[in-house]
Amino acid sequence: MLLTRFVKQTRLLAPALQNAPRFKSTKSRAPLAFALDIDGVLLQGSSVIPAAKRALDILQGQNPLGIKIPFILMTNGGGVTEEARCKKLSATLGIEIAPDQLMQAHTVLRPLAEKYSDHSILVLGGKGNKGREVAQSYGFKNVHIPLDILAWNPTIWPFHQLTEEEKSFVQSTDFSKTPIHAIFVLHDPRNWSLDIQIMTDVLRSPHGVVGSEYVPTTRRYSHSQSAIQLAFCNPDLIWRNEYHVPRFGQGAFKEAFQAVFRAATGRNHPFTQFGKPHEVTYKFGEKMLHDLIYKPVSEGDIMENEKDIPPSRIYMIGDNPASDIAGANAASWSSILVRTGVYDPAHAPPAHQPTYEAEDVEEAVKWAFERETGVRL
Ligand code: G3P
Ligand code: MG
Repeated sequence: MLLTRFVKQTRLLAPALQNAPRFKSTKSRAPLAFALDIDGVLLQGSSVIPAAKRALDILQGQNPLGIKIPFILMTNGGGVTEEARCKKLSATLGIEIAPDQLMQAHTVLRPLAEKYSDHSILVLGGKGNKGREVAQSYGFKNVHIPLDILAWNPTIWPFHQLTEEEKSFVQSTDFSKTPIHAIFVLHDPRNWSLDIQIMTDVLRSPHGVVGSEYVPTTRRYSHSQSAIQLAFCNPDLIWRNEYHVPRFGQGAFKEAFQAVFRAATGRNHPFTQFGKPHEVTYKFGEKMLHDLIYKPVSEGDIMENEKDIPPSRIYMIGDNPASDIAGANAASWSSILVRTGVYDPAHAPPAHQPTYEAEDVEEAVKWAFERETGVRL
């Protein structure tokens, strides 16, 4: 199974984090690193949480030790390329966020592009053609979106007519000759009903060839059927934007899809789940931090093989106990839960106990810094 082998490979990387100089200042090396969630920690929808800028300033070196502290942004969000998201985030947050510092829910798919190079895939989620652009930016070659299939045969879903804008980017293909090998739900789908119909048509058609008769549900689940990979990149049932009550996320779409698929076939469709709190995402995050810290700053920068940040010195700051905190705890990282997003202490204690609970990301960064350096900010 292509996907499980990939998950195994990622597990081998963690110990490498032990040696790392990139964010090492001349005076002393950074004794800690951060993985910062975005929604509910730095942003609420498109508005910046005021504490975010002050926290990022501390990480950029505005601290008594004058050290730059390595950090990545680790979000279950996505829907655009990392480059595009970094441009927007850098402008919004007022500091430069480099693509090697940003991990979106679907970034973990990048290493899979090679394995699917000769195969057609279907991607869902995000606005318009963005999902296709994301997959192509990872190196996937044969990328289709549900609107392409609707353009090929409008009767497949009679309740949506392509808009002029959609006609400008759909790529109609003869899907009766295009076996779909995998479906990747990258980001929150915009048209749940169309997408659920198209996903079901692909997953119930022999070899993923839409338009052919469905495989009878009575017939035992055949290997060709199970060969069609289904993966969801973000398990969040809810997330926090400007609205005062959390909103449904990609996890709610998955529940809706499985409910319809079960009603039609009597069973759920097997799938792979990426995104926080899943291990593969945290191992990928650890690797990104390792590469960030090791990447030589200047020509001839030598790699000093000295013990460096153990996982417990990686601080995940998040607003969602079920994703940010649960995943960090399972990865033996340190976890800090903030009250600026999904989690509201007035409702109930957190389902997953963090190392520390803070009002916001600034208090969280200050607490971790003092804990690791003994220096109060
Ligand atoms: O769609 C994104 C949402 O599920 C949560 O994003 O940044 O809080 O992980 P984030
Ligand atoms: Mg969040």
